[in-house]
Amino acid sequence: MARIPDAFIDDLLARTDLVELIGARVPLKRQGREYSARCPFHDERSPSFTVSPSKQFYHCFGCGAHGTAIAFLMNYDRLEFLDAVEELAKRAGVEVPKDTRARNASGESLDLYAALEAAAQFFKRQLDATPQAQDYLRQRGVDAENRQRFGIGYAPDAWDALKNALGTDERRMRLLESAGLFSKGDSGRVYDKFRKRIMFPIHDRRGRVIAFGGRVTDKDDSPKYLNSPETSLFHKGRELYGLWQVRQAHSKIERLIVVEGYMDVVALFQYGVTQAVATLGTATTPEHAELLFRNAPDVVFCFDGDKAGRGAAWKALESALPRMRDGRQAFFLFLPEGEDPDSIVRKDGAAGFEARLAQAMPLSEFLFAELSKDVKLGSLDGKARLAERARPLLAQIPDGAFRDLMHARLTELTGANLAKPQPETPRAPAPQRAGATARRSLVRSAICLLLQEPALAQDTPWPPLFGALRQPGVGLLVELVALVRERPQLTTGALLEHMAGREEEAALHKLAQQTLPGDTATWREEWRDVLAQLDQQTLAQRVDELKTQQANAGLSNEDKDELRELMKLIVRR
Ligand code: UTP
Ligand code: MN
Repeated sequence: MARIPDAFIDDLLARTDLVELIGARVPLKRQGREYSARCPFHDERSPSFTVSPSKQFYHCFGCGAHGTAIAFLMNYDRLEFLDAVEELAKRAGVEVPKDTRARNASGESLDLYAALEAAAQFFKRQLDATPQAQDYLRQRGVDAENRQRFGIGYAPDAWDALKNALGTDERRMRLLESAGLFSKGDSGRVYDKFRKRIMFPIHDRRGRVIAFGGRVTDKDDSPKYLNSPETSLFHKGRELYGLWQVRQAHSKIERLIVVEGYMDVVALFQYGVTQAVATLGTATTPEHAELLFRNAPDVVFCFDGDKAGRGAAWKALESALPRMRDGRQAFFLFLPEGEDPDSIVRKDGAAGFEARLAQAMPLSEFLFAELSKDVKLGSLDGKARLAERARPLLAQIPDGAFRDLMHARLTELTGANLAKPQPETPRAPAPQRAGATARRSLVRSAICLLLQEPALAQDTPWPPLFGALRQPGVGLLVELVALVRERPQLTTGALLEHMAGREEEAALHKLAQQTLPGDTATWREEWRDVLAQLDQQTLAQRVDELKTQQANAGLSNEDKDELRELMKLIVRR
């Protein structure tokens, strides 16, 4: 894992308001000291996801998801650790320390991004220098603005144009190769993979070029489209062409339209339909569906009306079903034979295309239509067959009104009620009763208090006497106290972040999520009391030690003095 200085992370978390960060993505409701919501990480009907503004961490009682702002961005926005840190730094208006960034962000992948960007620039220059390629784009109606927006370029008609321009040394050659830009002949000769093609760079969620798609300009050449191979940066089942551009064009995306081709996305943009994305020559994967719904509540899948198109639509439906939480909608638009969004928008304009979108088939309709295709709904057998086919599919829909409606619709069609009683969603445990803490070990209580209010550690005498106590958890307690003494502004979340990846992490999270009764003043009192008891136990431990020694080998004068002093210090309770 990347090593960014701990102090920088602390500072970043201190500057970040977790409620604001999460609230911008998930609707939060205030509930007493905390905020709650339906958990964005699992499907549920009633809210078990809580965000604590004072502790600066989130926790879900349902699925156990938890963490700080960093973990949230990693899991919700699907960022890598370092990207999450960068994102928070950007929000806070601070710079991630440069040297650590270069050292950490696995130098290799930073270099790969740079190589791909250099290639994209090279292809753009080639387009500027090749009138026939410009003609092709012009003839397809792509103007300069959209050429720019999508970073479109041209790979010249040569075996080694890119290689000669950018493969200046061994290291560059190796990078371009791992970026998927070369092919290798039988003789082992390396040459440009993309030749005589219009180049569409594929951007990741942060706008970095991670791959290319290339279309022939000559209709006799094949294959018509060539994509970069899978690389360490590019996994086609996870990326959507155009999503970066859509996100740039909208602060809030109401709907996304999923089409099949690069040119469809570009043409729709050209005509003013600016929410289209394309899968990259693959079926719609569950990861695509997740990504789509993370970005927009409504998704319209556009496919050819032919058999292949309906097959592809069914794949998309299967990927979408488990993600159909309430508030999300999926639609299917089937286009007439021989048409694609590009040709339709060109003929009928944005309004014509929108009119078709408005007619798109809701997922429910498509599902039951497909399942009933070769079924005679008039017969009992037919109804049974439909019910049988629908059962496993409806079971995948998350708990909620949509699922209930789908079951109702099935009942209507078949007369069979398949809805099973729902298991109870786990609820938040009742708050700790006062006195319950007394039964826990002292060390555990101390850690629990410290997690409730890290500031408690600030005026703890140092080094603490109880550090010598041989009991499970003492080392951890001392470590936590030391951390807070060193960085007084640490919130609970930031403290937990320090423990990320440690064996104790899960246990600490469990303790941290508890809401102790009382307030800062009562916790401070308890803290002092617990520490005093721990100190006492430490003294008693030493007394026992000395007494054992006395019985076995006898004590030196020094030891005897110590024992006498200790006996005075021990408070009989
Ligand atoms: P189409 O053949 O429908 O192309 O492929 P298109 O988008 O209409 O392209 P134009 O209008 O002729 O330029 C749809 C998508 O399938 C993938 C590409 O992602 C393409 O955009 N595809 C197609 C390939 O990957 N390889 C191919 O040879 C053809
Ligand atoms: Mn087309």
